[in-house]
Amino acid sequence: MERIVIQGGTPLQGKIRISGAKNAALPIMAASLLCHGRCSLSNVPALRDVNTMVVLLRDLGVVIGQPEPGRLELDASEARGHRASYDLVRTMRASVLVLGPLIARFGRAEVSLPGGCAIGARPINIHLMGLEKLGATISIENGYACAEASVLKGAKITLDFPTVTGTMNIMMAASLAKGSSVIENAACEPEVGELASALNLMGARIYGAGSDRIEIHGVESLSGMSYEIMPDRIETGTFLVAGAITGGDITVQGCRPEHLDAVINKLREAGAEIFIRDHDIRIRRLGELHAVDVKTGVYPAFATDMQAQFMALMTIARGSSVITETVFENRFMHVAELLRMGADILVEGNNAVVRGVEQLSGAPLMATDLRASASLILAGLAAQGETTVSRIYHIDRGYEKIEKKLQDLGAKIRREKEPEKNTVQTV
Ligand code: EPU
Repeated sequence: MERIVIQGGTPLQGKIRISGAKNAALPIMAASLLCHGRCSLSNVPALRDVNTMVVLLRDLGVVIGQPEPGRLELDASEARGHRASYDLVRTMRASVLVLGPLIARFGRAEVSLPGGCAIGARPINIHLMGLEKLGATISIENGYACAEASVLKGAKITLDFPTVTGTMNIMMAASLAKGSSVIENAACEPEVGELASALNLMGARIYGAGSDRIEIHGVESLSGMSYEIMPDRIETGTFLVAGAITGGDITVQGCRPEHLDAVINKLREAGAEIFIRDHDIRIRRLGELHAVDVKTGVYPAFATDMQAQFMALMTIARGSSVITETVFENRFMHVAELLRMGADILVEGNNAVVRGVEQLSGAPLMATDLRASASLILAGLAAQGETTVSRIYHIDRGYEKIEKKLQDLGAKIRREKEPEKNTVQTV
């Protein structure tokens, strides 16, 4: 096991480049199952979740090559499998993204139900309802969602909640259904639009993705294509917070500023200066931070995936802020660790009241999920003294070379092997 060690207190300076978006790469990789022919993806981030998706797709018979770093070639022409096992789904919930493609391509899918995780119960009932509307018969057997359909037929599907991967699964399945489908109350996240663009390049006919009403006209078959994965908006936001929390001056290059309006507005309100030029965002903080309230929501509201990082920032802001989480019911696991650094946070239901303190102090910490780990690293960068973050396999799921990028900005951060634990012997 590895851990990250940080000596806090250095204002970050310089430029870094944003990697491809995890949550766009994973569905587009899963979509390769829908087509005959080779899908060539570039700007694919080197992440644990991407590796897990490679293992899952290979297991289903997709031939995958990596001619060079950042490029994946996927060919599902000979794919045969239809089962995503519990072993894989429990390590990565996004495995559920093969459900829509498998039922559309093979008329059959067995995907382990993911079960709860560190941030909430996260059921997939809306995914299943959508597929049923398209004509699939679904049963739950031995922990697996088993779907069957001799033919999928277009339908009007209104989602109870605009679930991101649910919208994607239904959109992928509807691409090969007979006739037209409409998804109402669809997720508007940019990653949904990105998946639709990739599917349209394969020959799908999808209109309106990125809005809450998506129209899909089913086609007979889909073919290969080449696609460049868009930059990761959550990695971008995380680095912007790194600039703000350390009182630094950094430029985040190769990003899509238009995907981060809510985060940029809150950072400005908190006292950071932000300059946007094309695909670059420069953030500088000279004065003190001010407390601001944040409420997460579906896109374009403030992303739940940025909540933990923003909370780290608010721990050292002047005044009190209320952070409200509306998307997941249990996404405050980072609070207990931030308290160990001297933060003053009170959680009541889905609100966290953060009273800013003068200074955090370094401490040994434990990562609990991907974005929580990012918030602990950010807090460590601002704290006095040494912070260690253990269980960093969480961070490797979604941030490419985070310590290397932070080192390039001047942070005193390193990755090392976790020392052997002392075992207490009873006599
Ligand atoms: N929900 C249901 N039923 C469903 C589906 C969702 O009740 O059938 C509920 C969930 O329990 C949750 C809410 O709806 O309370 C939103 O969940 P959603 O389905 O939108 O989340 P997701 O598709 O599982 C994706 C991202 C997450 C991100 C959320 C919200 C991927 C692979 N994952 O998850 O990313 O937090 O959307 O934006 O795209 C991350 O990258 O760290 C991450 C967790």
